[in-house]
Amino acid sequence: MAVFHDARGYRISTDNALAAAEIFTALENFLHWRADLMPHVKAALAADPACGFAQALHGLLLYGTRNAAFRPMVVDSLKAANAARGAMSAREGRYVDALAAASAGRITEAVSVYEQILAADPTDLLAQRLAQFELFWLGEMAWSADISGRVAPAWNENIPGYSAHLGCRAFDLEETHQFGEAERIGRESVARDPAEVWGTHAVAHVLIMQGRHADGIAWLDGLKDNWAMANQMSLHLWWHRCLFHLERGETDAALAIYDAWVRNRDLPVLKGMPDLYIDMQNGASMLIRLELRGIDVGDRWDELAELTLKRLDDHSSPFTSAHYVAILAAAGHFAEAETAIASMTTFAHADDGTLGPVYLAAGIPAAKAALAHRKGDHEAVIRHLLPARRALWRMGGSHAQRDLFFILLVDSASKLDRRDILSIALADIAGAGFVDVPGRVAYRDAAAALA
Ligand SMILES: [Fe+2]
Repeated sequence: MAVFHDARGYRISTDNALAAAEIFTALENFLHWRADLMPHVKAALAADPACGFAQALHGLLLYGTRNAAFRPMVVDSLKAANAARGAMSAREGRYVDALAAASAGRITEAVSVYEQILAADPTDLLAQRLAQFELFWLGEMAWSADISGRVAPAWNENIPGYSAHLGCRAFDLEETHQFGEAERIGRESVARDPAEVWGTHAVAHVLIMQGRHADGIAWLDGLKDNWAMANQMSLHLWWHRCLFHLERGETDAALAIYDAWVRNRDLPVLKGMPDLYIDMQNGASMLIRLELRGIDVGDRWDELAELTLKRLDDHSSPFTSAHYVAILAAAGHFAEAETAIASMTTFAHADDGTLGPVYLAAGIPAAKAALAHRKGDHEAVIRHLLPARRALWRMGGSHAQRDLFFILLVDSASKLDRRDILSIALADIAGAGFVDVPGRVAYRDAAAALA
């Protein structure tokens, strides 16, 4: 068995030089949020189907799309990776362990495997990235910040991927409300690599949390020309830019960006996979926010609904499932929205993995609230969201993303003139880290009503 090493010196076991080269390219492109990814993984597998690390990476990437349709391929990759264990290093084998745990729904177990990889090899950026990804979608960002804090001393600018490590670290710090340090490290990551979209994203989060909307537009506008190679994260950055415009009352700009970027199905990244979870979240979240600003979004819900109708039984992401129900309801598919809720409820009661309890505590109440809000049943919105609001973090997403459900709660409480609930909700929103809640466009009227 020949041995090759990746950019940070970690071993890849294969006898095939082409397979090793393709895996290195895939790895670097993944770590730098580039769209050109799966063709390299597939080329590696074609060159050496017995390369266990390539199989594990293939499975982990497909699993990471949170798309139940890919499950058979994930299972096949796990099987092939397990068969190759004898030729793998202990570190490579741990990625197979992580895939086995994650694909069986034991997500925190997968995270603990990544932690063990990092304990031995703290600059194994793949493990840092995958740990953060899983923890982000469980709302466990303090845990993620602990991990990036533990590995940070091992990093320096001479190690390839330093800018990406800094981007990860910055986002952990932002989501744990360490805004000053998050901005400093995020800006450093982007100064080192202007195409570092995750560092760009971390700073954009700091700016929205701090209400620095003009700064946010300037930040993203100054970097947008670096995103040509980027994956869907570039579209999420455009979604962030829409948030800044919305806060400034610039709904025309937000809608134009929505059409040109956020849900432009002609863009290659959306053509290839129009229903990736982040893009569906971006679309639903922005359309609701625009509608609540009085904007008629026309038939824009329909293309989202068409994609969602194919995923009524996909329970791979509670946060996405809640958005699916919002999409179905907005497009008038009330029966299918109920079907999706019933399906996720059945799953949640049967699941013995990580996500079942998350669906019960957060995903299902959020979904029911989204449906009730669309029906104009504001009492039901409050009934579902008020008791669940302190558990919403468990379905993951950022403070800025989860804010959508607080926007719905505040809108319903406002319509019912429930000032008692408004005062509770606005305090919670401030507790999430937004520094100027009364200045936020979605909360201005509610704050004024309480004054
Ligand atoms: Fe974000």
